[in-house]
Amino acid sequence: MTHRIAVLISGNGSNLQALIDAISAGQLRADITLVLSNRADAGGLARARQHGIATAVVDHRDYDSRAAFDQAMTEVLDQQGAPDTVILAGFMRILTPAFVQHHAGRLINIHPSLLPRYPGLNTHQRALDAGDTEHGCSIHFVTDELDGGPLIAQARIPILANDNATDLSKRVQASEHLLYPQVAAWRAEGRLRLTNDGVELDGQILPAQGYQWHRRDAAEQCPGADARQR
Ligand code: GAR
Repeated sequence: MTHRIAVLISGNGSNLQALIDAISAGQLRADITLVLSNRADAGGLARARQHGIATAVVDHRDYDSRAAFDQAMTEVLDQQGAPDTVILAGFMRILTPAFVQHHAGRLINIHPSLLPRYPGLNTHQRALDAGDTEHGCSIHFVTDELDGGPLIAQARIPILANDNATDLSKRVQASEHLLYPQVAAWRAEGRLRLTNDGVELDGQILPAQGYQWHRRDAAEQCPGADARQR
């Protein structure tokens, strides 16, 4: 059966677009069965609709507590049977332990820093302020700790002399758009899972930093990936 992915967003949805494009290109053999947003004005919802993907809005402001909001999301997500993977792609709400437990081992997040450095917000400015020479993005299984779950993969980019936060954000996002479809493909191909010993890819436990990904990996997996505009 085709691997079923649900994507949770709060905004623009450029990572969602990267997943949609990877499916169209045959790089990712999966169905996005639902795009769920906590904001009705999230740009990513239009991207989903354009591709005939089902969408849902669960607005956190309609609920008295995080628990009630998360429960409502879980009900929507599980309506047609639980998805095989739940992908957080710019989803900007903190999830409750109950939500994380319910989707444990299937819940994946992308974060714009080289975790464990810079969990939380303003990651690009924080990397600049610290005088770092490299930055990047991380994809991890979600646990109760904010931006703290076991790392699956990281893409590293150099910080150049005159970079500002906007420059960095663009280059980090470009790396996200290559890395997230790759990780989703590992899931869809049954190659990636969370075990008690850590993150397992192709039967091997990955090092604590996760798979260290290079741009050439994308060129091999998906020729032309760099050229796509989002
Ligand atoms: C991405 O850069 C993602 O790493 C970040 O939000 C952006 C969403 O962009 N996520 C977080 O900061 C989560 N802590 P998109 O909506 O264009 O995919």
